[in-house]
Amino acid sequence: MSVQDLNAIARQMVAKGKGILAADESTGTIKKRFDTIDVESTEDTRRAYRELLFTTEGAEKYISGVILYDETLRQSASDGRRLADILKEKGILPGIKVDMGAKDLAFAPGEKVTEGLDGLRERLAEYVTLGAKFTKWRAVISISKHGKPSDYCLDANAHALARYAALAQEAGLVPIVEPEILMDGDHSIERSAVVTEKTLRRVFAALYDHRVSLEGMVLKPNMVLSGYDAPERAGVEEVAKATVETFLRAVPAAVPGIVFLSGGQTEEESTAHLNAMNRLGPLPWELSFSYGRALQASALQAWRGNPDNVAAAQAAYLHRAHMNSLARSGEYDPSMEK
Ligand code: 13P
Repeated sequence: MSVQDLNAIARQMVAKGKGILAADESTGTIKKRFDTIDVESTEDTRRAYRELLFTTEGAEKYISGVILYDETLRQSASDGRRLADILKEKGILPGIKVDMGAKDLAFAPGEKVTEGLDGLRERLAEYVTLGAKFTKWRAVISISKHGKPSDYCLDANAHALARYAALAQEAGLVPIVEPEILMDGDHSIERSAVVTEKTLRRVFAALYDHRVSLEGMVLKPNMVLSGYDAPERAGVEEVAKATVETFLRAVPAAVPGIVFLSGGQTEEESTAHLNAMNRLGPLPWELSFSYGRALQASALQAWRGNPDNVAAAQAAYLHRAHMNSLARSGEYDPSMEK
């Protein structure tokens, strides 16, 4: 596949007014989400929940792609159609999480490196046959007062992200490159900005070294926030300004789009932040969303595993998708919340 073809898919992923649903929770993570609504996590409950999301009528107006977990890409809906085909029929691109999770980094207490490179070429080839159009790999970076993140951790993760991205492009799949800096801790927004810029610079240096085409990828970063336990947390305008300034310094304009993760923000916070950033435009890249929790929290609460609640859960998901779609062009207002 040519760079032009990869670029066309990347641009479809960040099309105006649209964003990406991250529904690629691993079996461990979805269990944690289901625990909050007292639903047992089984292959069947996971299928029912994902089917509910993917069959939501009208979601395709706001959602360009969905990131799936391996199990989901292979699963079929109650009517026998493959879940990935349901998305395709709506014009939504199926994507696949291909990393094997963040593991302890040797000789770096409290730091992680993401695994999953061994055998990745073969797994990507299979994902192509299963209909995937793009992929995701998440690196996890922590901030502490002293020592974290270490240069060692940043370089190990940048290297893995770049090797992954090159293999994805070789297979004809658009890589979502996700270096997530966790906002746990009491650090200031200024510290978030410094660490985010340093991380992004290292990631883009590695991508260049590994011959990755920036035109054929999508970046999925954290927003620049105050730590969740910081004594005085920055407000919406300050977050928008710090995030956009950081990305203008560190993300080349050749990247078609930046899709933010929500990372533990509430649904309304993550929408307000995205909206405020898009009001600071024009910007060199599309600024969009690839939320997991911030697109699903209300839907999950509305569902609670009860088939009678499917319509209410779909309405909650559609509402969040709509609000975030408006935030893509700075047209969201908190008074639009129900
Ligand atoms: P959140 O939006 O819940 O952070 O999830 C996005 C994601 O895909 C993290 O890898």
